[in-house]
Amino acid sequence: MNILLTGGLGYIGSHLALGLLKKQNVNLTIVDNLSNSKLSVKNKIRFISSKNFKFKKLDLKNKNSLQKLFKKGKFDLVFHLAGSKSVKESQIDPKKYYENNILGAINLLNSMIECNVKDIIFSSTATVYGSKKINCYSENFSREPVNTYGLTKKIIEDLLIDLDRKKKIKSVILRYFNPAGCHASGLLGENPEGTPNNLYPYIIKIIKGDLDFLKVFGNNYKTKDGTGARDYIHIQDLVDAHLNCIQFVKKKSGIFNIGTGKPYTVLDIINSFQKHCNFKINYNFYPRREGDIDIYYNKISKAKKILGWSAKRGLKEISQSTFKFAIKSK
Ligand code: UFG
Repeated sequence: MNILLTGGLGYIGSHLALGLLKKQNVNLTIVDNLSNSKLSVKNKIRFISSKNFKFKKLDLKNKNSLQKLFKKGKFDLVFHLAGSKSVKESQIDPKKYYENNILGAINLLNSMIECNVKDIIFSSTATVYGSKKINCYSENFSREPVNTYGLTKKIIEDLLIDLDRKKKIKSVILRYFNPAGCHASGLLGENPEGTPNNLYPYIIKIIKGDLDFLKVFGNNYKTKDGTGARDYIHIQDLVDAHLNCIQFVKKKSGIFNIGTGKPYTVLDIINSFQKHCNFKINYNFYPRREGDIDIYYNKISKAKKILGWSAKRGLKEISQSTFKFAIKSK
């Protein structure tokens, strides 16, 4: 099976590449524009998997290169992970998000239609739901994103739903909760340039010694200890969810939340590093971050029932793999 993976050198993409390379009869092509990833990841994937794959530096905004790639590639299936993903940046520079995410997806889908590639698995986000009165999100909740990042993902979802209705392309839309954790080898993880916005990349910098303490945003949320709670899904469980979709998408389309169903607060996470890695994270409380909500997590029943997938790993595995990656990348 010829598979195209967009964004394949990124945090989630690189782990998915390893999952795909473990499968029999997979001929993998990765494209990535390297805007939020490093070329060195390509060699790490080769090293860990001992398998070969094709790689092309390509920006999905470049329609002509994409068309050429599709003509040669004879792809059976596309995993579309490429996209800009910072909530904060999307509010500062919305045009970048419309261009990278929406234009990129339109070019990709046009190439698929031209070359008769029927199936796609798309990386979406629980951010599409926005803020709800009920904290346990199920797939049939209305989508009311409160930032441009979430809005661009919603628009791509709508496009995929329309293309499915028109019987042009079948799609599985995966709405991720908060991906976390690193590869068991300690060689792959999330390590953005500069000061990270998200919790785990920030903690990685603390473990590496690049930052001194965690700023905990808010201590008066309606949660057990006052700090924000999220559904953190181990990257390896997330990969498994994608792999379970390969057979499914051949038959039909679907939309699935991918999370564990268990919310953990920021203090739970700090304590988990102490308990499982014997590492103390220093922290101070700061005011709430604009746009943050108290708590949300996945209602897990749909993916379990239909895809036969549920998360197997918890905070222990997330903390230990994160710690190993941080120490190795010092
Ligand atoms: N937090 C801190 N300090 C930090 C960073 C985060 O206290 O330095 C808190 C936040 O207030 C929140 C929790 O940790 O309560 C998680 O925050 P993240 O920034 O890690 O993640 P978000 O829940 O804000 O979600 C965002 C996007 C998601 C994406 C996720 C991880 O909305 O789409 O980041 O990439 F999945």
